[in-house]
Amino acid sequence: MSKAQNATQKFLDTNQYSRNSILRYESVYGTDFVSPGGRQYASQLIEKLALPFDSTVLDVGCGLGGSAFLMAQKFNLFVDGIDLSTNMLALARERLSTYRLGSRVTLRHQDCLTLSLHDHYDAVYSRDVFLHIQDKSHLFSTLYNALRRPGKLLFTDYCCSEQPWRPDFSRYVKSRGYHLRTVSQYADLLSQAGFQEVLALDITARFIAILESDITKIAALEMDKVSRDELTESWRSKLNRAHSGNHRWGLFTGVK
Ligand SMILES: C[S@@+](CC[C@H](N)C(=O)[O-])C[C@H]1O[C@@H](n2cnc3c(N)ncnc32)[C@H](O)[C@@H]1O
Repeated sequence: MSKAQNATQKFLDTNQYSRNSILRYESVYGTDFVSPGGRQYASQLIEKLALPFDSTVLDVGCGLGGSAFLMAQKFNLFVDGIDLSTNMLALARERLSTYRLGSRVTLRHQDCLTLSLHDHYDAVYSRDVFLHIQDKSHLFSTLYNALRRPGKLLFTDYCCSEQPWRPDFSRYVKSRGYHLRTVSQYADLLSQAGFQEVLALDITARFIAILESDITKIAALEMDKVSRDELTESWRSKLNRAHSGNHRWGLFTGVK
């Protein structure tokens, strides 16, 4: 792994994806998930891919493995999950062995930017990962190469409005080290990488609905008051940023 990749992994593992933070996120998103909508929304999106049984899928930034397990269990797909965070992978591997899905799911420590596979997967799926990646052109050409024709790409990601942003949103993006794009910038990047039939949807209304229901869920979680108050505050801030219009959520599909 290069020096820069090591630094990114360290940043992820010691900040946003420390073991404790992961487990806190999971308490809200639901077992095995660290992305909005948890298992229910993942299931809807995987259904949208409409892949025949035994298709092979790359889950980029698989996190705790929730989507990969679901693809294997409910949709009979073969899945390679890759992730840069060693904390995420350690937890995901424990679960993979508990669920006994090793014949359908592999989990690998890998930076998606260094993938060198060509014409390999029937689909590439990713949930809320690309916000961490600066070089989106390189990212999408790498994923395009990894697909075999007529391979499908589907991902969701945190997005943003055009600048200027409110100062609190700028501070938030900077503190997280995120690299956000607008929904239409993502559409252009996908077309430039060669994807056809590109669909780019602003799904912020769904994001807001999910956050509202998460806040109700947090109120009922069994945890100490300080942790619950912190989580509630964190989710309220997300909601405010989404209501302000600066923070958007996007759903994207394309075909090779
Ligand atoms: C918000 S979490 C989402 C996890 C999972 N997709 C889910 O839906 O629960 C983002 C994930 O992207 C991973 N990630 C960030 N940069 C990455 C990279 N360059 N290559 C692979 N994974 C990466 C992080 O380690 C983290 O597990």
